[in-house]
Amino acid sequence: MRPQESTTGNELALPSTIASSMPVSRIREVMDLAWEDPEAIHLEVGEPNFPTPSHIIEAANEASKAGHTRYAPNAGVPDLREALADKVIRRNGYEARQDQVVVTQGGIQALYLVLRALLEPGDEVLLPDPAWPNFRMIAHLLGARVLPYPLLAEGDFLPRPEDLERLVTPRTRAILVNSPSNPLGTVLPRELAQTLLDFARSRGLWFIADEVYDELAFDDTFVSVGSVADPDDRLVSVYSFSKVYAMTGWRVGYLVAPPDLANLLTGMQEPIISCVNTPAQMAALAAVTGPQQVVREMRDAYRERRDELLEVLDRGGLTSTRPSGAFYVWTDVSEAGVPSMELARSLIEHQHMAVAPGSAFGELGEGYVRLSLASSREDLLEGASRLARFVHHLGEAQS
Ligand SMILES: Cc1ncc(COP(=O)(O)O)c(C=O)c1O
Repeated sequence: MRPQESTTGNELALPSTIASSMPVSRIREVMDLAWEDPEAIHLEVGEPNFPTPSHIIEAANEASKAGHTRYAPNAGVPDLREALADKVIRRNGYEARQDQVVVTQGGIQALYLVLRALLEPGDEVLLPDPAWPNFRMIAHLLGARVLPYPLLAEGDFLPRPEDLERLVTPRTRAILVNSPSNPLGTVLPRELAQTLLDFARSRGLWFIADEVYDELAFDDTFVSVGSVADPDDRLVSVYSFSKVYAMTGWRVGYLVAPPDLANLLTGMQEPIISCVNTPAQMAALAAVTGPQQVVREMRDAYRERRDELLEVLDRGGLTSTRPSGAFYVWTDVSEAGVPSMELARSLIEHQHMAVAPGSAFGELGEGYVRLSLASSREDLLEGASRLARFVHHLGEAQS
């Protein structure tokens, strides 16, 4: 029964308990506040500051003119699925067939779809803490219980098998691992990927590998979980065009799953989105089959920004992670002595700059902020100086 339920009949107008108790994203909250300040520097948003490469836009225009404006199959345009299977083989290093690929409305819809297929209400899912907040929001919508597994500085911000063993119960159905990680920038080392797969296998869990930043790894330490998995592992890997090709607004992602599950997920697309926007799928086809130099250029720019930003933060006395992938720097601001959300609000008010508060990413994010390398170099360097000054100022005021 809904908690607000009355006997007057008005309850029919109420939203469901799940909808009305939906947690709000604190990153969104900061973004909305910051947009009210026209002078604000934006380091809170995980959105490339590059435009979508022009050959991709042209491919969508051409496709629309040529009549690719109708419904597509539930699992995606066949040519795109074939190109994605090929991409996974060549760039992610594992075998995938077209019937294992489902094109989705961004990585987020792939994650929702998979978790919807795997979890009953009350089932448990192991999620990282800190992590991209949308994972928890999906679990909330599904009535699933989150088992947060810690990613701590003392464990190099990587999952520790002993934590997973401690948390897992007979109701646990899946573990989600995000590499390269938002917000930490860590990548899962090969041996650890193997250990985590062994753990999932021994407990009968599904393994969900969120690899939406796969081609934004800065060194060659990144490995796709699929490339170390056994062919019969219960593994679903999630990818996206959003970050890699600067295509956030096009809303195209995809997943790779065992054929039976992929088939089930395909059927589930019908009542949810039916299919992904057809011209956007043609744009994605041009992205994945066209010149990859555009990706290398953007990745190199993020790497340069990372190096310069870390220097400024270091000179300013702030400790940060050195991301191996994705485009975020995770900075320790505990010296300020105030909750990260309060710090984020004060930074907008007094320093005209926005950061993502660590607590937005989970309990263990407290004491940190996330800075996005997808902002311009000038904004990043100026923002980092302001942040360092302000954190020291608050720290001194406390002592
Ligand atoms: C870790 C992670 N997974 C998935 C996504 C989903 O992105 P999209 O739905 O734009 O593909 C994001 C976006 O920020 C992310 O950070």
